[in-house]
Amino acid sequence: MNIRLEQPEDYREVENLTRESFWNVYRPGCTEHYVLNQYRSNPDFIPELDLVMEEDGRIIGHIMFSRAELVLDDGTKVPSWTFGPISIHPEYKRKGYGLKLLNYALDKARELGIGFLCMEGKIDFYRHAGFDLASKLKIHYHAEPRDAEVPYFLAQELIPGWLKSKGITEATYSPPKGYFVADENPEAFEAYEATFHEKVKALLPGQLPQFCQSCGMPLTKNEDCGTNADGSTNFDYCQYCFKDGKFLQDYTMDEMIEHCAQFINEVNKQIPKPMTRDEYVQMMRGFFPMLKRWR
Ligand SMILES: CC(C)(COP(=O)(O)OP(=O)(O)OC[C@H]1O[C@@H](n2cnc3c(N)ncnc32)[C@H](O)[C@@H]1OP(=O)(O)O)[C@@H](O)C(=O)NCCC(=O)NCCS
Repeated sequence: MNIRLEQPEDYREVENLTRESFWNVYRPGCTEHYVLNQYRSNPDFIPELDLVMEEDGRIIGHIMFSRAELVLDDGTKVPSWTFGPISIHPEYKRKGYGLKLLNYALDKARELGIGFLCMEGKIDFYRHAGFDLASKLKIHYHAEPRDAEVPYFLAQELIPGWLKSKGITEATYSPPKGYFVADENPEAFEAYEATFHEKVKALLPGQLPQFCQSCGMPLTKNEDCGTNADGSTNFDYCQYCFKDGKFLQDYTMDEMIEHCAQFINEVNKQIPKPMTRDEYVQMMRGFFPMLKRWR
C-alpha cells in the first residue's frame, strides 16, 4: 500500500473512484465526484493534501482538504479547515484502508500547521481518528439550532489548544461554498455525469432522508418519486409534483405552501407532536426556500 500526491493524469480515475465509492450511499446517485472535479481549481483547495492511496497496482482511495472559516459571535472570521470527500473503492471498504489514509492525511495536515478541522460525517468511522462531536468544543453548525448536539457535525483540534490560541471560545461553521457546486449548476453537473458509464440510481435504506424538492413530501421508496420525460425515475420530485418530465402544478412557492397546508391532518398522523395549520405553514415557509424548485 502506497499513499502519494494526486497527479493530473490520475484525475479521471480518482473521480471515477469517488463516484463508485459514494454511489447510492447517502442519496440516489451522488455528486461528490463533481465536487472534486470542480474543487481542484478552487482557491480553497489544498494541493499538498490531495492524496491518493494505491494497492494492487491501482488507486483505491482518495482524500482532499479545503480551507474554511469559523465565524465568531461578533462576526469575526477565523481561517480554519475541513476535508472531504474521502473515498475508498467499494471492493476495499471496511478493511482498514480508510482509517490508514485518514490518519496519514491528518499527520500531513498537522505538519502543514493545520490546527483544527471540522466536517460532516459518521462518528462511527471518524472517532477512530480522534474526531468527536463539534458541539463539545462549542462549534455550532450553521444549519442547526445553536444549542443542538448535531450527531453528524464533528471536529478535532489537530494541534492541542489551537482554538484557545486563537481566542475562540465559541464559533459557527458553514461548509465552503464550493461543496454545493452540483446544486448550484445542475445542468453542468448533468453534462459531466453523462461522461461516466451508466449506473442505476436507487432510494435505499440507510441513505439520508430524501424529500420532494417541490412540496417537501418524504421520499421513502421508488414509487413515491416522479418520472422524467423518458419514463425513468426522478429522485428530486414526488409523483404528485412531477410526471413525464413536467411539473403537474404551475404554482409559486406560496401557492404550493397553501396547497400543502390542506393536508395537515395527514401530516399530523405521521409526526409525534401534532401541529396547527398555521404552525405547519410557518414550518413550510422556513423550509421551502431551501428546496431545489424554489431556491
Ligand atoms: C467511509 C470510508 C472512507 C471508510 O473507509 P473504510 O476503509 O471502509 O473504513 P475502515 O475499514 O478503515 O473502518 C475503520 C472502522 O471505522 C468504522 N466504520 C467505517 N465505515 C463505517 C460506516 N460506513 N459506518 C459505520 N462505521 C464505519 C468501523 O468501526 C470500522 O472498523 P470495522 O470495519 O472493524 O468495524 C469508506 O467506507 C467510503 O469510502 N465510504 C463511501 C464514501 C463515504 O462515505 N465517505 C465518507 C463521507 S463522510
